[in-house]
Amino acid sequence: MLVISQQDTLKAVSMAEVMEVVRKTYGEYSAGSADSPLRTAISIEEHEGVGLFMPAFSPEAEAYGVKVVSVFPGNVKHGLPTTTSLMVLNNASTGEPEAIIEGGIVTKMRTGAAAGVATDYLARKDARIVALIGAGGQAFYQLEALLVARPVVEIRIYDIEKSRAEALAEEVKSKLVKDNMKIIVSSSAEDCVRGADIITTVTTSNTPTFPADALAQGVHINGMGSFTPDMQEIDEKVICSADKLVVDALESALAEPGDLVIPINKGRLQTEVIYEIGEIVLGKKSARENDNELTVFKSTGVALLDITCAKLIYKRALEKGLGQQVDLL
Ligand SMILES: NC(=O)c1ccc[n+]([C@@H]2O[C@H](COP(=O)([O-])OP(=O)(O)OC[C@H]3O[C@@H](n4cnc5c(N)ncnc54)[C@H](O)[C@@H]3O)[C@@H](O)[C@H]2O)c1
Repeated sequence: MLVISQQDTLKAVSMAEVMEVVRKTYGEYSAGSADSPLRTAISIEEHEGVGLFMPAFSPEAEAYGVKVVSVFPGNVKHGLPTTTSLMVLNNASTGEPEAIIEGGIVTKMRTGAAAGVATDYLARKDARIVALIGAGGQAFYQLEALLVARPVVEIRIYDIEKSRAEALAEEVKSKLVKDNMKIIVSSSAEDCVRGADIITTVTTSNTPTFPADALAQGVHINGMGSFTPDMQEIDEKVICSADKLVVDALESALAEPGDLVIPINKGRLQTEVIYEIGEIVLGKKSARENDNELTVFKSTGVALLDITCAKLIYKRALEKGLGQQVDLL
């Protein structure tokens, strides 16, 4: 069995490869041929912690396994990370454990890749200006994937904690920037999104993160952050006026994120107009059809992506001699 660290994963795979696996996995998910049950949560009350268990089986990738995520907010007091995560990947033909993989980097890369794939299908072909709202743990990989999807020339970053936006801008400049690309730390969300072609929100916000009337025509929005009914990153005016409203998984999208649940409960959003990105991958539904459309992708996360991306990481790590072999017997 192979033990794969975060650094091994970063050496093993590129964002472009992860995006290709995510694209195929969305198709497999929407075809109904994989098994990706709802996650199980356990509460560790003594320490105000939560453990999340997210299993999945992908026949196409010949992989099954589980991601275990621990969220312990009290860790901040001890200088420890609040969220830690580990994946166990098994071989679907034999059941044998193939790898143990640090899970945080799998989450970040697959979530970035999810926005990248959606952008590829839904943003205008000539989209060049990106606005990113929320400069936390996921943000760098969101931008990395958008740069794979389109030849971006300008990135604007906004966070309510300006120091985070500044730190992300420095990281992007040192690791991602290509010739003549402009990196701007915006002083308001409105400045950030005005005139942008692609907007990604990846925050923990409970209220809309940018004003609806600041949007340019033909913009594409990736809503990546909210996952509970009281979380809302995108104004319902934007959601209700979208020409295409696409989600990663209908079951959770209609029940979990406030961005959709709030306008649905008010009777302002008809659920029939919403469809899965996997249906676009399968050729059953349309991607963007013209340059004027307002397109929105809302993601709440699909555990199947963790498993298929873990399989890719495992294969590439084996090919490149990365990771540590451990004999369990
Ligand atoms: N869709 C998915 O598959 C997926 C995967 C991973 C994480 N997430 C979710 O994405 C969100 C962000 O994750 P993270 O790990 O980057 O979190 P994080 O806590 O590291 O960062 C969130 C950032 O958002 C900023 N923020 C909060 N409200 C804001 C607002 N109104 N305007 C601008 N900035 C604001 C915070 O200051 C912080 O920097 C979380 O809600 C997380 O659960 C979704």
